[in-house]
Amino acid sequence: MSSAFEQRLEHELEQFINDGVYKRLNYLETPQDARVTMEDRGEVIILSSNNYLGLCNEPEVIAAGKAGLERYGAGTASVRFICGTYTVHRALEAACARLVGTAASLSFVSAWNANEALPATVLGERDIVLSDQLNHASIIDAGRLAKSIAKCETAVYRHADMADLDAKLAAARDRRTRMVITDGVFSMEGSLAPLPALVELCRRHDAVLVVDDSHGTGVLGEHGRGTAEHFGLLGEIDVITSTLGKALGGAAGGFVAGSAALCDYLTQRARPQLFSNALPPTVATSALASVEFLEAHPERVATLRDNAAYFRAQLLELGFRPLPGETPIIPVILGETAAAIRMSELLLAEGVFVTGFGYPVVPQGEARVRCQISAAHTRDDLDQALAAFRKVGEKLALI
Ligand SMILES: Cc1ncc(COP(=O)(O)O)c(C=O)c1O
Repeated sequence: MSSAFEQRLEHELEQFINDGVYKRLNYLETPQDARVTMEDRGEVIILSSNNYLGLCNEPEVIAAGKAGLERYGAGTASVRFICGTYTVHRALEAACARLVGTAASLSFVSAWNANEALPATVLGERDIVLSDQLNHASIIDAGRLAKSIAKCETAVYRHADMADLDAKLAAARDRRTRMVITDGVFSMEGSLAPLPALVELCRRHDAVLVVDDSHGTGVLGEHGRGTAEHFGLLGEIDVITSTLGKALGGAAGGFVAGSAALCDYLTQRARPQLFSNALPPTVATSALASVEFLEAHPERVATLRDNAAYFRAQLLELGFRPLPGETPIIPVILGETAAAIRMSELLLAEGVFVTGFGYPVVPQGEARVRCQISAAHTRDDLDQALAAFRKVGEKLALI
């Protein structure tokens, strides 16, 4: 390899370290759960995982993955339309559609892939994508890809600002298709998209509404059916994309859920479907078991809700300023990036693993540690984590 190229990478990596933005990986030796064993640190409580329902280490889910391996083997060895597709993919897709309240769904190897596939495949140069300013990186890149390969127009509306979206939709009235894309739950804030207003606006402007519910599926609504269930809008959202890599077993994979025609069109034309392997059958079977577990155990969702409410209330009691909200994503705002990183390091030293986020991932001056609560946490886990927050908060004179 060119030494100039290597030198440039090394120089930039050094710069990351000097700027305090270099990420060091923490290696785990046990499954994701309320507590894990971290290499060289021993047992830590995890407050930074998307294992919302605790299904990563659920015996039924693990058993299903093993059975999938025995029954279908290790992988698909090609793309679905070339070498055949597994019956478990069809069962998983029916289950995902049933869960989120659409007629059909189509699985992808990640929600990132699902998001990137959608607008670039179904839109063209007469169309426009309108995207919330705080949407996830995969949606931002999906817009860039659609602009570059499908030649559609793209626009960004101010975060959750319905007046701005209204104006931009009105200005786009001559476009053949207007596609509005929003996160259901904004992952850095833990806040919800204004779904009722979005549904109304999209209907009025004859726009297609796409909700990425990666942090809502399995989490929101009485039965964990997502942001749409939370707002009483099941069956009213045109397209839902989501992940199988968070609440639903946490392995990997994602899906686009919508009409039968949409899923068929993506099967015919989406490049990640046509030129990349399907979800491994082990993952498809464990994800299917996760959906079925969720359907049979809505009490898990209630436990998650109770745990999140408890942790939020106790943080307030201690004198922290978590962002208000009703999701298990509870960010504690600290201001400068260095303060968030320092806090997360001190918490780890106290046996609590929670990540600090700074600029440019979040706005300047709004660095935070982002706590994520799981149904797997016991009160004892949460109380121990809160004791660490108190100790570190006092040490840093935050409370
Ligand atoms: C809103 C949102 N969409 C998509 C993704 C990507 O999910 P996956 O890991 O399945 O690619 C994430 C993951 O961080 C997310 O938070």
